[in-house]
Order: sequence, then C-alpha cells, then structure tokens
Amino acid sequence: MEEKRARLFSAVQPSGIPTIANYIGAIKNWVDLQDKYECIYSIADLHTLTVKQVPATLRQRTLELIALYLACGVDPEKSTVFVQSHVPCHAELTWILNTITYPGELARMTQYKDKSRNHADNVNMGLMDYPVLMAADILLYNAEVVPVGKDQKQHLEIARDLAERFNNRYSPTFAVPEGIIPKVGANIMSLQDPAHKMSKSDPNENAFISMNDDRDTIIRKFKRAVTDSESRVAFDENRAGISNLVSIYSVFSGKTFAEIEKQFEGVGYGEFKIEVAEAVASTICPINERKNEYLANKAYLDKIMIEGKERAEYMARKMLAKVYKNVGLYTPERKS
Ligand code: TRP
Repeated sequence: MEEKRARLFSAVQPSGIPTIANYIGAIKNWVDLQDKYECIYSIADLHTLTVKQVPATLRQRTLELIALYLACGVDPEKSTVFVQSHVPCHAELTWILNTITYPGELARMTQYKDKSRNHADNVNMGLMDYPVLMAADILLYNAEVVPVGKDQKQHLEIARDLAERFNNRYSPTFAVPEGIIPKVGANIMSLQDPAHKMSKSDPNENAFISMNDDRDTIIRKFKRAVTDSESRVAFDENRAGISNLVSIYSVFSGKTFAEIEKQFEGVGYGEFKIEVAEAVASTICPINERKNEYLANKAYLDKIMIEGKERAEYMARKMLAKVYKNVGLYTPERKS
C-alpha cells in the first residue's frame, strides 16, 4: 500500500515578474518536493491587493505565473495548482481567524511595518491582515509542511499560533504547520548592491535577473555586477559582490564553492562573470521558451486552473465545514 505523504502548501504572489532569487528560493524547490509530499501550490492573488495593482496587469501576471510554474516543472498531475481567489474558502476562513487574532500581534510584523512605510499613502486593513489570510491558506488544507523564505518566517509563526489558539479555544481542528527553510544558496543578493536582497521591485533593473530576461540581457547584467578590486574568485564574507556571484554560479552549475575556486584560480572577474551568466541563461532561457508556449495556449492554462480549483475547493470546503461546526455556526440539514 502506498504510504500517506505529508501535505505541503506554498504560494507566490503574482505581483511582478519573478527573479532568479524567487526561482531558487521557491519554485525550483517545489519541483523536487512534489515526489516527497502531497503538494498544493497556489497563486496568492488576494494577497497582492494589499498594495495597489493595475487590474489588467494583475490578470496578466496571474497567467504568467501559472505558465511559469508549469514551465519550471510543477506538474498538475502530481500537485494541486490553483489560484487563491478561485477558492472562496480562503476569504471565509480569514474572517473566522480574524476573530481570534489580536491587532497588536499584526502591528508588530516586520513586513507590515516595512510596507506601511513604503506605501504610506495606502496603509489599509488588508495590509495588516495579510498574515491572517496566509494562515488561512495553510490551515485550510491542514498542511503540515510549508517551505518559506526567511522573510516569511514570522508569518508562519502567526499561522502556528492561530492553529494552536483555535484548537485550544474550540476543539482540535487544525494541524500545526512546520516551516522548512530551503538549503544554502538561497540567499541571492542584488547585483548592484550585494548588501541587499535581490528584489523584483528594485528600481535599478541591473540589480536583478528576471525570469523573463533573455540571454543578452543576462550577460549584460552580470558584466555590470558590482565586485571588488582584489580579483580573486572565491566565497569570502568580506567581499559580498564576488561571493554572491559564486553562490549564484554554485546553484546554477551544481558545483561546490571549493570546486569553483579551484576551477577559476588565476581567472579574472570578467571571464568568470561570463561563465556565471552562461550558466544562468542555460537554465532560464529554456524555461522562458516553455513559459511562452504555455502562454500562447490560454485555453490550456484555464483548464489547469479550473481543475486545480475543483481539487483545492473540495479539500477546503470539508475543512471549512468542520471549522464552522466547531465554532458553533448552525448548519441546516435538508431532510427531503
Ligand atoms: N506571503 C508569501 C510571499 O509573499 C506568499 C504566500 C501566500 C504564502 N500564502 C502563503 C507562502 C502560504 C506560503 C504559504 O512570499
């Protein structure tokens, strides 16, 4: 008999074109996790509304993100792939969880504080409630495992607290999720300012490699990457720029730091940068081609989304019914 696998949930927001940092930190790992866990991968479109979006762009990015998932190797036969807003239970469970969440614990969140500062003209309740919606995403599927980057660790903590709080206040209902942090190599920094994380919202386009960049753009951006004057290819904490390039090369070539240092002994930065760019391009470009093929077949993407929604909603409805019952909401039964 097949062993029952633990359930895993993760999601990315369709709020911009993902960078290689998003790919390495999230989607690339998802592909391998599919064989180990029962995976549910979502597109967190409701979360993006917490900052201003252009409606037509949001719709297009949702399509692009699902095409990217598929192009990277997320397999809708193995995993449940769906768009958050297609399953209304996420918003419904958020309401219930809101009634056991304290404003103080949300106001303390680092991301909330950062975003309220960066979007001072649009500090809204959704921005504050963001972690509760994320908790609903996870708890709705009784997910035991959640792969998250460092920046989402605090939010996962809230999800764990809410699960426990609910179970204590009412009756045992939710699994308490565990986070798994992706292995090393996940810390990809800006190419222009290696003290900061690579970010898709960086105003300087040379700071990041987007999953949409073509080979020439990738080479041009790596050529311009900030390094130092020592000119020795090595991972060295005091030289953040070259260390970042070594990390990126390691992830994309599968070579260890030691192997890379040996291979590039006596080789200049210029030549090394081209090698890094080639390694990245040889992964990214074929993904991009497949993504564009999917995008050209909108009917297929719609079909995948609808099937994913049906599978996700089946699980979510069952869970939400249990929650409604356990909090004391009356459910009428049809007798005839
Ligand atoms: N907040 C996550 C991010 O921006 C995306 C997300 C939404 C998520 N719901 C989730 C991640 C549930 C893990 C689990 O990266």
